[in-house]
Amino acid sequence: MSAATPTRRDGLHARLRMATDPAHQALEAGLDWRARVASRAGYRDLLARLHGFHAVWEAAIGAQLSDEPFLGPRRRLALLVADLDHLGLTPATVAALPRPAPVILDGPAAAMGALYVLEGSTLGGQLIGRHIAGLHGFGETGLAYYRAHGPRAGAMWGAFRLRLEDFAADPVAEATLTAAAVATFAAMRDWLCTAPAAD
Ligand code: HEM
Repeated sequence: MSAATPTRRDGLHARLRMATDPAHQALEAGLDWRARVASRAGYRDLLARLHGFHAVWEAAIGAQLSDEPFLGPRRRLALLVADLDHLGLTPATVAALPRPAPVILDGPAAAMGALYVLEGSTLGGQLIGRHIAGLHGFGETGLAYYRAHGPRAGAMWGAFRLRLEDFAADPVAEATLTAAAVATFAAMRDWLCTAPAAD
């Protein structure tokens, strides 16, 4: 993260990154991902938890963004389903996995803020994916969620950042987007880092 405080001339992305940095750090610290993916069962349980989050938040984002050509390639719920299948969960078990309560986002700016969190997680996810591949020997299958966009990661992130700037002209939209990103980080931390209830 840049140490300098971004100004309006830096662009929305720089300001958003700075505003969400504490939330990213808190999630990264709370996740304890190395310990959680150390065993195959732990990795499966983390994916099962991510499944619930993506199921609810991708639906909420889709409802407000109303732009499937943009969102579709960024949806990763199906990748989680494929990985969980590879790890031995039946379709019925996957369908019955716990989910957070439904979420309603406040329009397209909020949807972009929430999507920033999910899409940004593909960046650190590259590192996590390589670690899991080395540990458990997964190739093409079993790691689809963390492989995410694969060789297209840079292009997908570049296009996403460009799209963020559409909201920079309107300070109200930017505030809504930023608040939604912070709230999404917090919701993800609650969902992933709090011990799941017996369900
Ligand atoms: C599910 C939890 C996580 C979420 C939601 C998340 C979210 C994000 C977001 C939104 C960004 C983009 C920052 C920007 O605007 O440039 C990002 C970048 C990054 N994250 Fe995470 N992150 C998560 C977990 C992690 C973990 C556990 C690590 C540590 C391995 C990590 C390492 C990174 C790194 C290194 C970048 C910068 C990548 C780059 O600039 O090329 N993240 N993450």
